[in-house]
Amino acid sequence: MISKLVIPAAGWGTRFLPATKAIPKEMLPIVATPAIQLVVEEAANAGMEDVLLITARDKQAIENHFDRSADMEAFLAARGDDTLREVLINISQLARIHYVRQGEALGLGHAVLCARDHVGNEPFAVALPDDLIRSDDGCLSELLSVYKKYRCTILALQRVPKEKLSSFGVVSAHRLGEGLWEITDLVEKPPPEQAPSDLAVVGRYILEPEIFSALETTGPGVGGEIQLTDALRVLATKRRVIGWEFSGHRYDVGNHLGFIKATLEYALDSSLGPQLRDYLTELCEQLRFRRYD
Ligand code: UTP
Repeated sequence: MISKLVIPAAGWGTRFLPATKAIPKEMLPIVATPAIQLVVEEAANAGMEDVLLITARDKQAIENHFDRSADMEAFLAARGDDTLREVLINISQLARIHYVRQGEALGLGHAVLCARDHVGNEPFAVALPDDLIRSDDGCLSELLSVYKKYRCTILALQRVPKEKLSSFGVVSAHRLGEGLWEITDLVEKPPPEQAPSDLAVVGRYILEPEIFSALETTGPGVGGEIQLTDALRVLATKRRVIGWEFSGHRYDVGNHLGFIKATLEYALDSSLGPQLRDYLTELCEQLRFRRYD
């Protein structure tokens, strides 16, 4: 079965400047948990024990986060706070975590290619920490179930309003069943009128190792970056590629509004929920009378 997950986390995070001047974007917290930890938890829940993080210079905070922190643990123990101490220890036990550096941020496709030596010649999963997906079973678990049946490349798909398609990779596909698509082609960030469908690829993938040779010969695409979509397009001409419309809700925490929405929804489901609900109800009441001109 698939045990390896690759998390590309070497991007610049320019949309979150100035916060990301000194803090990796992936470490920005959703309430009190860094976004990247939520993705590693999703992998652990799906039974994936081996996580490779693609990082970069100035991203050491990510490594520190998944490491033990003897001083902090000792401090909490001395204070008698065993619950919080356990929380910290558990983070380092979520998975066997490995790191590879992407020397230059040449694009998502290039980041995935950096995983080649670690992954070897076996299928593997990729999850983008920008995309948080809340669902009962977890999106990676759903993709693994589809993989078990079809044994090929599986992409998570989401229907996206036409005017937003130009921010995504978009597929040409024919329907195989409820939520299940046979993908024949892909295009990265198409102008809305040229989008082949309203089905966008989002940040969860099961990839066959053949993707690496496709990536090796992929030149810069949209935005001058080596795009995973372009390599998937080559792969789709040679191998079967299936799309799965996952269940649950996706938050694009790589942009401000998506980040705020995720924060609110995760907080509403936490112990803060009742207080936050009261506050939001009060705020909505006030907004009805506020003028914004
Ligand atoms: P994004 O394009 O959303 O991330 O890439 P970014 O470049 O960090 O963000 P902005 O646009 O500058 O704000 C999606 C994922 O791919 C990773 C990013 O870290 C993010 O998790 N990535 C992107 C890499 O690992 N390497 C790259 O060269 C590009």
